[in-house]
Amino acid sequence: MTPTVQLGNEHLAHFREKGWLRLDAITTPEEVERLRVIFDRLFAERAGWKQGKSFDLVGAVDEGKAALLPQILNPVEFAPELADTHFRGKAFAIATRLLGEGTVPWFEHAIFKPAHIGAPTPWHQDEAHRYDPGVEYAQVSIWMPLQPATVENGCMSYISGSHLGPVLEHRSLGGDPKKAALECIDDFDRSSAEPCELPPGGAAIHHCRTLHSAGANTTGEPRRAYVLAFRGATRTAPEQRMFPWLEGKRTAATERAEAWENRGGVFGKAARGVASFARRATRRLRRTIRG
Ligand code: NI
Repeated sequence: MTPTVQLGNEHLAHFREKGWLRLDAITTPEEVERLRVIFDRLFAERAGWKQGKSFDLVGAVDEGKAALLPQILNPVEFAPELADTHFRGKAFAIATRLLGEGTVPWFEHAIFKPAHIGAPTPWHQDEAHRYDPGVEYAQVSIWMPLQPATVENGCMSYISGSHLGPVLEHRSLGGDPKKAALECIDDFDRSSAEPCELPPGGAAIHHCRTLHSAGANTTGEPRRAYVLAFRGATRTAPEQRMFPWLEGKRTAATERAEAWENRGGVFGKAARGVASFARRATRRLRRTIRG
């Protein structure tokens, strides 16, 4: 049976006050099983690598080491069956309840934290990653584990109320602009962090300004999570904001994405075929004219 997810007023009040929310179930155990198989296949194939959509958040793989925190951006592009899930439908309904009219699906992430070596996800606010000049909007992320999420395997942790303050100072992880991850280097009370342990198919939901992190995976099983992000209605921003920590940020995945685009992306092969046909036709025409 699909769990009924109705956000009551107490859920809304909790989200407004704390900036995050925990649900025991957002989808069925059967769907979690199905998603786990898809995720394991996508990560084994490193789907999206050449497009720059598959990368190691902490950059270890670009230094020739084992990936410590692999992610795939928009995995639905590589596994179309992900388009049709209970999770997606419920998550959209919840996001709309939290953000109001005009809420739209924004992007999604598949995250794989390997057994024993899976790296911690540093403290950050999702909004610190944003470069979207000219518009303002709220955003929520709905994070669903595909096995239990515990302190030992790297469940989410939140700083309640941090969404009510500004975007704090961040930098690229370890000060290295080649790393995709950002880390918050501002002052905040890390001791007030609240871990959000979950059963498989539960959900941790947070606002784009809520400070969050996830621990290392110290267990013998991988920790997989599926995140759907939603954007609320947009309005014109009074100023064009550019966070200094995004200036000069350049990851290996960005370079792969640009190389893929320059080759013409998915249309590249077809376009190259048309170009070579055109060249052959031109040569034939010249020969005909000369002949
Ligand atoms: Ni985040």
